[in-house]
Amino acid sequence: MNDKLGNWKRTHYCGDLTGADIGNEVCLMGWVQRRRDHGGLIFIDLRDREGIAQLALDPDRDPEAHTKADKVRNEFVVAVKGVISPRPDGTINPKMKTGEVEVEVSELRILNTSKTPPFLLDEHIDVAENIRLKHRYLDLRRPALQKNMILRHKVTRSVRTYLDEQGFLEIETPVLTKSTPEGARDYLVPSRVNGGNFFALPQSPQLFKQLLMVSGYDRYCQIVKCFRDEDLRADRQPEFTQIDCEMSFVDSDDVITIMENMISRIFKETIGVDAPTPMARMTYAEAMDRFGVDNPDLRFDLELIDLSAIADGCGFKVFADAIKNGGMVKAINAKQCATFSRKDLDNLTDFVKIYGAKGLAWVKITEDGWQSPIAKFFTPEELEQINKTTDAEVGDLLMFVADTTTARRHVAVHHPFTAPRDEDLELLDSDPGKACAKAYDLVLNGSEIGGGSIRIHDQHIQNKMFELLGISNEEAQEKFGFLLDALEYGAPPHGGLAFGLDRLAMILTGSDSIRDVIAFPKTQKATCLLSNAPGPVEEKQLQELSIRLRTRKKE
Ligand code: AMO
Repeated sequence: MNDKLGNWKRTHYCGDLTGADIGNEVCLMGWVQRRRDHGGLIFIDLRDREGIAQLALDPDRDPEAHTKADKVRNEFVVAVKGVISPRPDGTINPKMKTGEVEVEVSELRILNTSKTPPFLLDEHIDVAENIRLKHRYLDLRRPALQKNMILRHKVTRSVRTYLDEQGFLEIETPVLTKSTPEGARDYLVPSRVNGGNFFALPQSPQLFKQLLMVSGYDRYCQIVKCFRDEDLRADRQPEFTQIDCEMSFVDSDDVITIMENMISRIFKETIGVDAPTPMARMTYAEAMDRFGVDNPDLRFDLELIDLSAIADGCGFKVFADAIKNGGMVKAINAKQCATFSRKDLDNLTDFVKIYGAKGLAWVKITEDGWQSPIAKFFTPEELEQINKTTDAEVGDLLMFVADTTTARRHVAVHHPFTAPRDEDLELLDSDPGKACAKAYDLVLNGSEIGGGSIRIHDQHIQNKMFELLGISNEEAQEKFGFLLDALEYGAPPHGGLAFGLDRLAMILTGSDSIRDVIAFPKTQKATCLLSNAPGPVEEKQLQELSIRLRTRKKE
């Protein structure tokens, strides 16, 4: 039988006890992390979301409490009353926040029992993630996840305080809505009332936040769930949270400044780190040129070296042709990697192919000069030039890729409402591929944590943009007609940005996976192991929704 809570009131969190509380009476409630029987004296580590307190139960002090303590097992829910006292010399644990003290228990109540958990809830135990996810309610009791959840809360608190001070209003936007233009696949929800029709879950509140600008709510924000049916990676979830903002009467610099200051404040308030503003800025072109990606990690030294000028007209046809066709040749110098075996190099060649490279040329720099299948195609002067440009030294490994940039139809990299730079407006007619956008991303440790743009608020430019993107009038009307209509009723100049809250929390907590900062995440296969969603539904429900399945997998 479990004891009743009665009129007991908790006075402290377990994890909050310190030496300053010595002598005080406390009442604690929590879960049993561990029970140790020292022949007479019983010690219990009691855990709550703030940490662990050590309870000491002496049969001489209260035999009844001691007898009950003998029965408790891991994860039992227990309430105790007692006095905080210093731990005896030699038993102080400097690694624990509460390590100086223990509670001399005078009364103990078992509030609930627990089955033996499927894994030990110890910080240092390595448990397979699928087992942790299946029993997420237990997993969330572990200190590492407690820390992450608390930090995530601090991030949103910091965001809300800052944005409120800056005059932002938090306004909710619909979850049952129409397809939005972020470019991933939509999650669809069938409408029962309007059989055969579907809502789409929002990939972002993009269209609605722009409507709010038209409505005059000139600083909007929302901490909001977004849904994207895309291939998952370590930093992607099918449902994730954005810190979403939009402002009127601003240009790129205004948005960037306000948002940089927000990030700086979050860093200070959550992990005590100074992130000075303005933050370093880099154009898209520079990032691609130096790192080959638009989310460079500046801690990474292996920058791309452009050898196009030397490759132009050289004897190696692959390089010369790439340049002739308007492409480029780039290299990296892997310092002191000339020891790589033929197999290592073959593996690297396969690796770069994943990213679209057609091949990988390599050179080992030895005491006797170039050792490479392509050495014979270059003149001594060319070799010398390449060595100089790549800072090649004996023992280094140079790796080259030559290619042309992919010619493709224009597509919106961000979304089709992004405004071109004022100075590039004319290029929309003459050479649209050269026009740059008023768009920006914030990159942290190589991860894109946020992105946004100044929007087009002029109907003519918007129509031109659709035309360039090959979006027909009908398609534009069908997809975003309500926004296009609204833009005709006095749309102010506006722009904004959205941060990925989960990605930000992942970096702030030093987590390797986005799942570690989400209370109830989905797996890599977009399923929830805890609830077993998604799952089949009753035939009757399908009928109500006017849906007939073509195939139905057996359970
Ligand atoms: P964007 O599509 O760049 O912009 O998204 C903004 C930020 O959201 C995060 N993010 C994700 N995080 C986890 N899982 C995902 N599947 C995922 N997809 C995106 C990223 C990204 O930088 N409406 C625009 C914003 C705007 O223009 O104001 C938008 O959604 O950190």
